[in-house]
Amino acid sequence: MQFNFYLSKCMPVNENGITILNGNQKRNPQLDDVITIMGEASALAQNLKQLITSPTRFFQTDQKLYIKSEGKQCLGILKIGRKNLFDRDLNGAIKEIQPICVLDFYVHESVQRKGIGKELFEEMLRQEMLRPEKLAYDRPSPKLLGFLKKYYNLSSYIPQNNSYVIYSQYFDFNYTNVAQQHSAQQSYQQQQSTQLANQYRVQQEQTPMKMEQLDQMMQQMSLESEQQYSQYQKNKAQPPCVTDQKQYQNMYQTTTGLMSAQIQRR
Ligand code: ACO
Repeated sequence: MQFNFYLSKCMPVNENGITILNGNQKRNPQLDDVITIMGEASALAQNLKQLITSPTRFFQTDQKLYIKSEGKQCLGILKIGRKNLFDRDLNGAIKEIQPICVLDFYVHESVQRKGIGKELFEEMLRQEMLRPEKLAYDRPSPKLLGFLKKYYNLSSYIPQNNSYVIYSQYFDFNYTNVAQQHSAQQSYQQQQSTQLANQYRVQQEQTPMKMEQLDQMMQQMSLESEQQYSQYQKNKAQPPCVTDQKQYQNMYQTTTGLMSAQIQRR
């Protein structure tokens, strides 16, 4: 989009040719013109009845606007802002989340599919220290869906009752947590086994005559552990459930407690 002034005269442009504006940015008439004209072009390109980006819809908000320019040309805009959303997660549970959302994204028709959108998007990811799957996308157009699939391999999302698209990977953090808990649980079990082996050795020294009984008991315990482990593997394939952790912990504590009680008795 051609203007009759250098865009760097009305806004600060960084070394990548990108301007980053906050809603509390000081206004000037030329900057208002840039925002108005790009906002209108974006709405037109997306067939929207209402403007998403205009000076009144941007200034005095907590939104951010990324603008790509070159001399007197404005090449594209990207507007983001945090929203409070009620979304279904992978298990179908409704969660209240406050993601940063891509609210408006537009590259001028004359320069589309030349990497300008990627430049704007990457600059925003760097500045906000975000990964694309951690953003929500308001009413993404087919072009934006194609863009996200091409560059970031994002395609699977959970249909919501609002206009926002949240990719499945958004909820990956929860999976990571569960995986970490599982691994902590495994090391806890390992620790318990070592303690058990030590107890067994002590017991062996103190009561050599009970060796056979202890052997049998150890075999039985290891059989039970194997069964529990295979059950654990089966459950791992299911969607994670917080109570699983507690169950495994209780199960192993009970098993270990029983065993050490038996050893004590002997
Ligand atoms: N048809 C299909 N896919 C497209 C198109 C198109 N016309 N234009 C861009 N893409 C996707 C494709 O994946 C394309 O890769 P390809 O050319 O290998 O097929 C990729 O984007 C190109 O990447 P860039 O060149 O970096 O993207 P560009 O500079 O074109 O910017 C953008 C992408 C912003 C979506 C731009 O095409 C645009 O402004 N489109 C019109 C407005 C729009 O739909 N905006 C998104 C609205 S939704 C929202 O804002 C939340």
